[in-house]
Amino acid sequence: MKTGIFYGSATGVTAEVARKIGKELGVPDADIHDVADTAPARLGDYDLLVLGSSTWGNGELEDDWYDFVAGAAALDLDGKKIALFGCGDETMSETFCDAVGELYDRLKDTGATFIGEYGADGYTFDSSRASDGALMRGLVIDEVNHPDLTDRRVEEWCALLKK
Ligand SMILES: Cc1cc2nc3c(=O)[nH]c(=O)nc-3n(C[C@H](O)[C@H](O)[C@H](O)COP(=O)(O)O)c2cc1C
Repeated sequence: MKTGIFYGSATGVTAEVARKIGKELGVPDADIHDVADTAPARLGDYDLLVLGSSTWGNGELEDDWYDFVAGAAALDLDGKKIALFGCGDETMSETFCDAVGELYDRLKDTGATFIGEYGADGYTFDSSRASDGALMRGLVIDEVNHPDLTDRRVEEWCALLKK
């Protein structure tokens, strides 16, 4: 199964997490793409799509994602798997990592199967569109308040994806 990682990142945090995920999953650098300079059609090159956005504004996608996800939503991704991840800040407690939920909503009708839900234990927030009850729709990372937890979370989540 060929894996491609696609990320949007304003200050480099999500880019760094994308590289950590790539290392953990054994994905070569050439298959780790910044959506700012990548065509959505590249999604067609892979079986497992690992998609990551930080959250900006008041619960919005990282800017570079808007054009890319519009193109992606128009594709037929039937047969592909999507695993979502995102970076945010728990002190933005009403919109914590909302971009993960936004990606899910925009891509849920593409025919792809979503994998990689991750336990919500250990996170503190009031509301998050990334949350699907007891689980998050993907890996969420808070490098602002809990950078010490990032490596363990990445390792745990990647182990789930490899199952
Ligand atoms: C103006 C501003 C708005 C933000 N809004 C949110 C938000 O609504 N929810 C959230 O979880 N994080 C929010 N964040 C935190 C960023 O998502 C976080 O710093 C992230 O690590 C940035 O990743 P990037 O460098 O990959 O873009 C915000 C940060 C800033 C500076």
